Amino acid sequence: MPVPLFNTSDPIAPLRERIDAAIRGVLDDQRYILGPNVAAFERELAGYVGARHAIGVANGTDALTIALRAMGVGAGDEVVVPSFTFYASAEAIPPTGARPVFCDVDPDTMMVTAETVRPALTPRTRAVVAVHLFGNVAPVREIEALGVPVLEDAAQAVGSTVDGAHAGALGTAATFSFFPSKNLGAFGDGGAIATSDDAIAERVRMLRFHGSHDKVTYEHVGYNSRLDELQAAILRVQLPELDRWANGRRAAARAYEEAGLGDVVTLPVATAGAAPAWHLYVVRCERVDELAAALRAAEIGHKAYYRVPIHRQPAMLELAQSVDLPVTDDLARTHLAIPMSPVLTVDQAAEVASAARAVLAPVS
Ligand SMILES: Cc1ncc(COP(=O)(O)O)c(C=O)c1O
Repeated sequence: MPVPLFNTSDPIAPLRERIDAAIRGVLDDQRYILGPNVAAFERELAGYVGARHAIGVANGTDALTIALRAMGVGAGDEVVVPSFTFYASAEAIPPTGARPVFCDVDPDTMMVTAETVRPALTPRTRAVVAVHLFGNVAPVREIEALGVPVLEDAAQAVGSTVDGAHAGALGTAATFSFFPSKNLGAFGDGGAIATSDDAIAERVRMLRFHGSHDKVTYEHVGYNSRLDELQAAILRVQLPELDRWANGRRAAARAYEEAGLGDVVTLPVATAGAAPAWHLYVVRCERVDELAAALRAAEIGHKAYYRVPIHRQPAMLELAQSVDLPVTDDLARTHLAIPMSPVLTVDQAAEVASAARAVLAPVS
């Protein structure tokens, strides 16, 4: 039985008529930029996350740059960021004028902690980007206790919670991506920034709109970076389904555990109190090439997302000259994403586990 790496189409299928109607509504209304659907989605997303404000932007990468600038990050500053994440988490920093400073991650959760951030702090540190990697939730409060503002990169973690609070409502501000394969996916690019700080929200609204309130007076050099009305209308249909989908992802993770997958590979570890809406289910294994070959032979989707971590990417080499991140290097070498979706079945999880068992001896 082939098992795809992710399944975005089956969860969406029952919503198709409502999505078509939402698209027709926008076409009938003919307000395509910053119209009523964007305003409503911003209210609904803020309510869902538990933040005072949510502001739609063009994608999750712009969201990071704009949020950092709205938090006051600029030329001469440093921003601490993990290297074991998608490239955009760091790529978004230089456009603010600041320099990314790469830090290591915890080997169990694969995310930043106060301990991994502390050695990267200097008097120039202006913010930490805490990436909620793979849908897990980074310990934001613990990092903020170091005395530095945290921007949550929640691109992979919409729907995840920790002690009942949503990822995206934990730090000074948070960013989301609605890239189509994400937990909440648009039919194109999209992103958002959440914050409960009124002044930051105000700056974000201006920065996404050419640094202006009214397109008459321009107070900042900003961006043309808006979530468009069609995407907002589509996302509004999906948002009420998000918790059900998140529960489906959690059930899929349980199915892997119950199928004994943890006997042959290292399973992802949720942070204390977290209920991750696993965006990707990423296991670790020393014999990862053999595992990948076995999954390929069984037509089971798999992918190594960050084999070359960001501090070793050509564009970042100059910024990362004396950086030594042993845990990141180890995770980069040994990680592998296996199928995950809200509709992954117990049988599919068992199929993946048995393909893994067939090539890997049980961990003693
Ligand atoms: C952790 C992380 N940060 C940022 C982004 C950037 O989002 P986007 O692709 O919407 O620009 C992504 C996703 O692509 C991501 O996974």
